[in-house]
Amino acid sequence: MPRMFVRLSMLAASALLLFAGTALANEKCATCHADIAGKHKTTLHGKAGKDCLSCHGGGDAHIANPSKSNIIRFGKGVSAKEQNAQCQSCHGKNQKLMFWDSSYHKKNDVTCVSCHTVHKNPKPYAKQPESCFQCHKDIKSQANKFSHHPIIEGKVSCSDCHNPHGSLGHGMLKAENVNQLCYKCHADKRGPYVWEHPPVEEDCTKCHGSHGTKAAKLLKEKQPQLCQSCHDWSRHPGTPYGGQAVFGGSASAGRGGLARGCTGCHGTIHGSNAPGSNGKRFIR
Ligand code: HEC
Ligand code: HEC
Ligand code: HEC
Ligand code: HEC
Ligand code: HEC
Ligand code: HEC
Ligand code: HEC
Ligand code: HEC
Ligand code: HEC
Ligand code: HEC
Repeated sequence: MPRMFVRLSMLAASALLLFAGTALANEKCATCHADIAGKHKTTLHGKAGKDCLSCHGGGDAHIANPSKSNIIRFGKGVSAKEQNAQCQSCHGKNQKLMFWDSSYHKKNDVTCVSCHTVHKNPKPYAKQPESCFQCHKDIKSQANKFSHHPIIEGKVSCSDCHNPHGSLGHGMLKAENVNQLCYKCHADKRGPYVWEHPPVEEDCTKCHGSHGTKAAKLLKEKQPQLCQSCHDWSRHPGTPYGGQAVFGGSASAGRGGLARGCTGCHGTIHGSNAPGSNGKRFIR
């Protein structure tokens, strides 16, 4: 019992010392940077006991002679390498940052703090999609198109599909390839089907955009143009259908077909398990 007590009190004492050290450093900085030091206490880093020095270095030299040149700064005018090294000294081993070195962001000198804020918010999180839209204006415009994944609505976030810190797959996707990614949320499209439509198995983005498109259902083009980019119309006209049936004996043919596009008849466009030629033609 007494030994345990001694150990415990030693632990408590060293924890106190640690706190005193942090508090002391922060107090010194607070004499001139009161507002930031005050805010720091309320942030995740502050609550985790990280003092100013752990990110900014500096210390006595800066206190004695305050200057931007004897302290580590973040933002414009400082190399990405120098800024990121500070953050990585603690976060470099995080699993989610495993592919940082090969990421497009690292390669293009994007800094951790171009997405994460440290002092502004209680949590150093990267606000999505806003932080991404600063640089990816083209994606912003896609996400605002008529048909879009509900990114702006906040139901899907960029990081549901991408790891902004890099990944093994291309496009910094959080999956081996595009289809594996889509199946995560659209499992019903995975199949396997008796009758497969080859482009579906190959790559969903042969027909769909990833962020947003002008045509309904996230399609890259309207029907019938979308279909006609691959299918040739010698036997089966892609031009508007008349009032009469265009296929010998096909009851479903007629104006309805025009109004609904190709998938008005070929309704199981992602694949079919129906027997016979209807299944093969994705009619059922
Ligand atoms: C005696 C007052 C004083 C103390 C104490 C002080 N600073 Fe400063 N600090 C300044 C001034 C003044 C500047 C602006 C210098 C300049 O513009 O070149 C500055 C600049 C900075 C900057 C750069 C700000 C920017 O615009 O990018 C950081 C970061 C910083 N201080 C952090 C600290 C930290 C951390 C401590 C505690 C170790 C600390 N300071 C202690 C006065 C002080
Ligand atoms: C986890 C890392 C980290 C810690 C800890 C930290 N800072 Fe900062 N500091 C930053 C980053 C990153 C920026 C750039 C702006 C931002 O992200 O909010 C910054 C910006 C600043 C600036 C200049 C920006 C401004 O608005 O004037 C000052 C001054 C500063 N910090 C002082 C401090 C002081 C004082 C402490 C301790 C109380 C501290 N920092 C603790 C990372 C940190
Ligand atoms: C001295 C070590 C240290 C440094 C340097 C540091 N952090 Fe942290 N960071 C922590 C700790 C401790 C936490 C609290 C949560 C945890 O344990 O991950 C944290 C939390 C975070 C989180 C939230 C993690 C979560 O799980 O939600 C982010 C994001 C983050 N830091 C980004 C940064 C950025 C960006 C920088 C550089 C400007 C930085 N950190 C510098 C230690 C550090
Ligand atoms: C392009 C924007 C972007 C950049 C650059 C970026 N991050 Fe992140 N980071 C995010 C987003 C978004 C999240 C939250 C989603 C997630 O967990 O994948 C996040 C999450 C994190 C987390 C929490 C991870 C966890 O375990 O939940 C940490 C820690 C972190 N980032 C640190 C860093 C550090 C360190 C750097 C620089 C080497 C960095 N980030 C660069 C956007 C970014
Ligand atoms: C539903 C999944 C999903 C969401 C959500 C998503 N993306 Fe993508 N993104 C993709 C796919 C799939 C690609 C194509 C990857 C490839 O084939 O290289 C892509 C490609 C990109 C590209 C490469 C350029 C291009 O146009 O092909 C960028 C940049 C990008 N996304 C940024 C973002 C940003 C920023 C957000 C959030 C505003 C976001 N993405 C949300 C799936 C998504
Ligand atoms: C400071 C600017 C900046 C910010 C902020 C930023 N990016 Fe990027 N991003 C880039 C640059 C530069 C590239 C590489 C060039 C390119 O492909 O556009 C890139 C590339 C990408 C790519 C890979 C594109 C490809 O060609 O495969 C994706 C995906 C991506 N960013 C997603 C995001 C997400 C998600 C966020 C927000 C969490 C984000 N970015 C925030 C600058 C930024
Ligand atoms: C993180 C989950 C997620 C991932 C991954 C995902 N989606 Fe979605 N998708 C959604 C949500 C949520 C909706 C909106 C559903 C709703 O509003 O009913 C949606 C809607 C759609 C729609 C219908 C749009 C409309 O206007 O009705 C299509 C098409 C689509 N996604 C294709 C894809 C493709 C292709 C991929 C792979 C590149 C993909 N999705 C990846 C979540 C996801
Ligand atoms: C050959 C073109 C094509 C390919 C490839 C394709 N789709 Fe579609 N998809 C369509 C068409 C056309 C519609 C609209 C159907 C309609 O309006 O009746 C659609 C609709 C959707 C919808 C919304 C309606 C529904 O059925 O839930 C989702 C989700 C979807 N596709 C996901 C996917 C996924 C995931 C992949 C890849 C596995 C994929 N699509 C590949 C053509 C395609
Ligand atoms: C990226 C190219 C591509 C696109 C776009 C595409 N298809 Fe296909 N489709 C194929 C291929 C390849 C086959 C396999 C049979 C073949 O070789 O003709 C096929 C097969 C079919 C079949 C079965 C044909 C048969 O002889 O059994 C139908 C029906 C069909 N597609 C309808 C459509 C419709 C409707 C659309 C538009 C919503 C569409 N396709 C878009 C490439 C495409
Ligand atoms: C009114 C219903 C209807 C509409 C609309 C329709 N199809 Fe068909 N399609 C059929 C039927 C029924 C068959 C089977 C014909 C047969 O067995 O000879 C067929 C066969 C096909 C085939 C197989 C080709 C072949 O020669 O066997 C393809 C590919 C196809 N359609 C694509 C399309 C595309 C692309 C569109 C839109 C431009 C479209 N269809 C619109 C009913 C329709």
